[in-house]
Amino acid sequence: MHQNKHQNAPLHVPVLLQEVLQYLAPAPGNSYLDLTAGYGGHASEVLARTNAPQRTTLVDRDDNAISVLKGQFVDGERLIHADFLTASIELSAEGSQYDLILADLGVSSPHLNDAHRGFMFSEDGPLDMRMDQQQALTASEIVNHWDEATIAAILKRYSEEPKAKRIASLITAARPIHSTAQLADIVKQAWPGHSRVHPATRTFQALRIAVNDELGLLERSLPLWLDMLAPGGRIAIISFHSLEDRIVKQILATASGDRYDAELQLLTKRPVVASPHELVTNPRARSAKLRAAVKK
Ligand SMILES: C[S@@+](CC[C@H](N)C(=O)[O-])C[C@H]1O[C@@H](n2cnc3c(N)ncnc32)[C@H](O)[C@@H]1O
Repeated sequence: MHQNKHQNAPLHVPVLLQEVLQYLAPAPGNSYLDLTAGYGGHASEVLARTNAPQRTTLVDRDDNAISVLKGQFVDGERLIHADFLTASIELSAEGSQYDLILADLGVSSPHLNDAHRGFMFSEDGPLDMRMDQQQALTASEIVNHWDEATIAAILKRYSEEPKAKRIASLITAARPIHSTAQLADIVKQAWPGHSRVHPATRTFQALRIAVNDELGLLERSLPLWLDMLAPGGRIAIISFHSLEDRIVKQILATASGDRYDAELQLLTKRPVVASPHELVTNPRARSAKLRAAVKK
């Protein structure tokens, strides 16, 4: 695993690793599609068991992740630098089929820990929040140019922010807004007094989801992933917030419904969550939920 040279710690610790291995049950020769390969934590463990680099495809939309993956996987694995919808359309047009598919959604630790990426407000940074540095839409564009009603709708829909309208109005009145700390201070005006969670947490989550079209891409990609599963193939999806988990739950439930010809069988009735031990060592696992299924 790649290390963070400043802290001598891994760049990103994979969540629910043992559980992913349990549900995917990788076996020698299996083909593998990792749609959010990140820093290769899950992928390297899966590959250690399949031992089939030439039947492995790793996807990520982030430049930094792709360059780390390029250094780490040098045995003929296919690397695709794209969002997973674009990659899935391409792969399914080629007729690709996989025994194992993994999607570990959301951002990686390097996204969250690097102030320059603009995901955090505890340290000041630009209003960016793009997972894909080549994408045109940034958080700054939304905050500084989108209309108030649309911003309020984003805050309501993607983070159930109770003061969505008030915050949208404060944002439009304060333009131009240049930095994450400035935005966090503006949001705080809607929530004077002390609160356990910083009031900007919800606004930042909502903007991040909007900038990266996280829910739209998931909704459109998941049916393609199910199509690309080979008979007997297994899929595991890890989500980090309830809106994502709802989409995963609904699409898997529909594909595995009561019909005798249902194409899928659920392996997890309820989402699998991190063990107390993992929570101590990897706080990112706190909100992780894993759902898995097998193609009949
Ligand atoms: C939680 S991390 C995955 C970490 C990885 N499983 C590991 O063990 O290192 C999520 C990764 O998915 C990528 N990602 C998120 N949404 C994506 C999308 N729609 N298309 C492609 N990559 C995406 C992010 O750039 C990030 O690197």
